[in-house]
Amino acid sequence: MSEKTFHLRNGRVGVLFAQTGEQLPAIVHWGADLGALDADDLGAATALVRPGPAPSSPDARTLPSLSPEYSRGHAGTPGVVVSRTEAAGSWSPQWRTESVVCDGTELRVRASDEALGIDLEARFVLEPGGLLRVRHELRNAGDRPVDVRSVTVTLPVAGVAEELLDLTGRWGRERAPQRRRFGHGRWSRPSRRGRTGHDASIVLAAGTPGFDFATGEVWAVHLAWSGDHDVFAERGPDPYALIGGAELLGPAEVVLAAGESYRTPWLLAAWSDAGLDGISARFHDWFRGRPAHPTSPRPVTLNTWEATYYDHDRARLSQLVKTAAGVGVERFVLDDGWFRGRRDDAHGLGDWQVDAEVWPDGLADLIEEVHDHGMEFGLWVEPEMISPDSDLARAHPDWVLADGDRTPPSWRHQQVLDLSNPDAYAHVRDQLVALVTEYDIAALKWDHNRDLIDAGHGGRPAVHRQTLAAYRLMAEVRRARPGLEIESCASGGARVDAGVAEVTDRFWPSDCNDPVERAMIQRWTSLLVPPELLGSHVGPEVSHTTGRHTGLDLRAVTALFGSMGIEWDLTDLAPDQLERLAAWISAYRSHRDLLHSGRVFRTGGDDPGLLVHGVVAADHGEALVALVPLRTTPEVTTLPLRIPGLSAERRYRIDRVLAAEPGGRVQPWPWPDGLVAPGSVLTRSGVVIPWALPQSAHLIHLVAVPDDLPDDSTPHDPPMPAPTQAPNQGENS
Ligand code: GLA
Repeated sequence: MSEKTFHLRNGRVGVLFAQTGEQLPAIVHWGADLGALDADDLGAATALVRPGPAPSSPDARTLPSLSPEYSRGHAGTPGVVVSRTEAAGSWSPQWRTESVVCDGTELRVRASDEALGIDLEARFVLEPGGLLRVRHELRNAGDRPVDVRSVTVTLPVAGVAEELLDLTGRWGRERAPQRRRFGHGRWSRPSRRGRTGHDASIVLAAGTPGFDFATGEVWAVHLAWSGDHDVFAERGPDPYALIGGAELLGPAEVVLAAGESYRTPWLLAAWSDAGLDGISARFHDWFRGRPAHPTSPRPVTLNTWEATYYDHDRARLSQLVKTAAGVGVERFVLDDGWFRGRRDDAHGLGDWQVDAEVWPDGLADLIEEVHDHGMEFGLWVEPEMISPDSDLARAHPDWVLADGDRTPPSWRHQQVLDLSNPDAYAHVRDQLVALVTEYDIAALKWDHNRDLIDAGHGGRPAVHRQTLAAYRLMAEVRRARPGLEIESCASGGARVDAGVAEVTDRFWPSDCNDPVERAMIQRWTSLLVPPELLGSHVGPEVSHTTGRHTGLDLRAVTALFGSMGIEWDLTDLAPDQLERLAAWISAYRSHRDLLHSGRVFRTGGDDPGLLVHGVVAADHGEALVALVPLRTTPEVTTLPLRIPGLSAERRYRIDRVLAAEPGGRVQPWPWPDGLVAPGSVLTRSGVVIPWALPQSAHLIHLVAVPDDLPDDSTPHDPPMPAPTQAPNQGENS
């Protein structure tokens, strides 16, 4: 039988496909670029991985195809399962390839199963940054309906990938890593929440044992979808080792009429031989290359939630506006509580008009005041929800998303608005469009504060349609006000994924602003999402979600490594605190170009006591590094830590940007400010992280020194303002 090969290469990654006869191609390699191989070499590469005969096996053993087929003996998860109830036995396809088109970075395979009357198109796009995007499309080519039960996208990983890492979590502590051995069986992370989920594994990685941020060969996937989904890793003795993902569909949730198609969400797949930092670099490059990726400087945002909650006292808000502008805030967002009947979380969702009792003159004068202070205005909404106690629910009780007459359990006293209902959809869209056209609104914080439970429409599961309708709604509202930005929030970080990222501009990763927790939440969320899309706010001294006391510097240094903002009532801060906060905001503003374009690195294990992370410019010209001892560690100080990503050919000047420790004292450092060192020394030999109190915060800026200028002619960082706290009297070293 004839053998054909197809080879994709881009961004130092290679994907090699082999096709036998008319069978569906199989992926024989996804990983490091194998180089420019001629036909003989490609033939050898595929011959070398073809499974030979073995006892108690099919007589002709094959590799799992790009959509593994049960009908050819794949005993793991099948690529496609359909149901044609009118044709008994027609559920498991065996594909015949119609065409393969390969241009070197993209491959499209068309295949059909004539008996079943379905077609498949598989699309693989290898992006310039080496990220592989895969999507399958299933078409009903017959004349009887097809119930799509599952279309799974899988990719093979090398046998050396013997360890798995995925993410879990809850409200206030999203994206905690967990690891296990990648043995035989299926490790699956399904999410049936109708939103991405606090516990969703937004990245699932398989790698060489012990892989960490800097080392190891790693294969990782993310499914770009906010509805029900599964990501999984599966290994069998046949042998195969696959990672992949699929949308989870209920019975008859997607039934294709003749000629209709179902497309899977994109599976984003990253390979790296430089650990998890290499994985996130590929995800970040891809996000940044999207045409709609925000390119304007990410504004310092004050969100009113933890400052005022539902108490929209006009005078207090004015004071907050003034104080915010004074410390350098650029966008002022009015959170929950502004619309009809919304005095607490039990009422009003669905009635998206300004509450005349609280806001007798509407929002216009607050917005004007915000603008007069040089800031943009943003507003909180939660359009996919409905409070049973709302005019909307009273007028249209049938607009609640429910399976028949059974009302889903209440959650935060609210239900979900059935967006599959065209009237409900049009109603909420018109209200939102009216809002963003009447008022000069630069941004919406778009919330989604409950899981979908028992979500049905017309007697069929409805999460698929609800998710697509939510995306369409966001897109329509954005079209109504060009330039409008949307922040995706869902009780904190329960809707963080690359699907909703297509219609939004920022994520709210968590309601927890406690920097000790938040540092970890950001560390793991940024595995997928670049820092410029991660809202990251300085909260109050006593965290509203954990009760932990932390210093301003620690809170600020944590917030600085995202899209920085504030979630704090600034109106009762002492002048020295405001001054210190302003200094941090100014540091963010002067470094945000670097922070939002450079390559992120982290050191230490999954949950280190000493947090060291930073961003290195794409051209290696500068880096900003945070040194944050979250806890005490058994070492007195560190053995030298390497700062990755600097150029070995250049020399760097090292400046401390801001530094303070709880109690206000600042330890003397072993090296003087302004010391110049070769990049080779910093990346290969390393630096000792000075002794510091737990929960102190240090930031260093490294700038390449121009070769032809004396060292001291490089621009220096502004001098450090004094820390706010009184000097610690009790030194006992
Ligand atoms: C959710 C969000 C919060 C805040 C509240 C308002 O919990 O995550 O940031 O907006 O809703 O009700």
